[in-house]
Amino acid sequence: MTTLNDSLKQQECDISLIDVIQRILSASKDISFRLQQGALAGILGATEEENVQGETQKKLDVISNDLLKDALKASPYVYGIASEEEDFAVPGNDGGEYLVTYDPLDGSSNIDINVSVGTIFSIMKTTGNSDLAQDFLQAGTNQVAAGYVLYGPSTILVITTGKGVSMWTLDNRIGEFVLTNDKVQIPAQTKEFAINMSNQRFWAEPVQAYVADLLAGEEGPIGKRFNMRWVAAMVAEVHRILTRGGIFMYPWDGREPSKPGKLRLMYEANPMAMLVEQAGGLCRTDSERMLEVAPTEIHQRVPVFLGSKEEVERAVSYK
Ligand code: F6P
Ligand code: MN
Repeated sequence: MTTLNDSLKQQECDISLIDVIQRILSASKDISFRLQQGALAGILGATEEENVQGETQKKLDVISNDLLKDALKASPYVYGIASEEEDFAVPGNDGGEYLVTYDPLDGSSNIDINVSVGTIFSIMKTTGNSDLAQDFLQAGTNQVAAGYVLYGPSTILVITTGKGVSMWTLDNRIGEFVLTNDKVQIPAQTKEFAINMSNQRFWAEPVQAYVADLLAGEEGPIGKRFNMRWVAAMVAEVHRILTRGGIFMYPWDGREPSKPGKLRLMYEANPMAMLVEQAGGLCRTDSERMLEVAPTEIHQRVPVFLGSKEEVERAVSYK
C-alpha cells in the first residue's frame, strides 16, 4: 500500500514540507471525528453556550481553527499562519521556512444540517520579508502544495505538490488516508454548472448573458442542456468538479459593489486554482489567471470561475 509519506517523498517533497502537511492532516482527522460525533460532541449551534459539563462550547469553525493553529505552531518548519478565522497573520517559528494559509471549515453553514464541509489549505515559502503580513502577499504560482479535506459521507484528502492531483480516503479503522485516485483529471467539457442563482439580478452583464445561454439549453447558442448543482460549500463543489467535471462560479455582484467577490484569494481561490490546474482544468477571475493575481491583503476577495477547461474559457469570453 502506498502511504502518503511515500507518495510525498516520490514527489521530491523534503522532510520539512511533509511535516507541515502531516500536521494539517492530523488536525483534520480530529475535525473529522468531531463532525461525525455531531451533536454528541456538543459542537453544533452558536458560540458561548454551555454543554452538560458546564463548559463553554465553541462553534466548530473556531475549534477547527484552533486545532490547525496549535498543530502548525508546534512545527519548527512553520514561519507563519494566516487563517479565515484570524484577523491578522500569526507568527510561527523564526527558523521555519513555510507559510500556511487555511480556511479551517469551509461551508460552515452546512454543519448544523449535516451536509458536507471541508478544510482548505495552501503552503508557500517565506520570502524573508520582515513584515509577516507582507510576506504572505505572494501570487498563487508560488504555492508549493495545496489541498483540501472534504468531510462528507467519507473524509477525503485531495492534494497537489505541483505534480498532479491525488485523492486519499480516510480509513477510520486505521486512522490513515489511503490512496484512492492517483491521477485526478477534469474532463475538458461539461454539462453541469454551479452558481448561486438567487444573486442573478445583481450580476454584471457578461455573467447574466453567459448563464442565460446555459439555461437556453439545446435551443440556445451553446446547443446543449445543462444541469445545475449548488452545495453551498466550495470544497464540495470543487470535489464534484474534480470527480466528474463542471463549472463553478462565484462572480462579482452588485450587492456590495465595493467587494470584488465573495471568496477569498489566499485560502480559497488559490489552493483550489492549483488543484484545478494540476488536474487539467482552469481557474480564473473575470479578467486573469487566478494563480497570477498579485495579492494586496490576506483576506482579499476575488471573483472565481473554475472547472472544465472549455467551459471556463467560454464563461470568461463573454464581455
Ligand atoms: O466560504 C464561503 C462559502 O461558504 C463557500 O464555501 C461557498 O461556495 C459559498 O460561500 C456559498 O455561498 P452562498 O452563501 O452564496 O450560497
Ligand atoms: Mn470558506
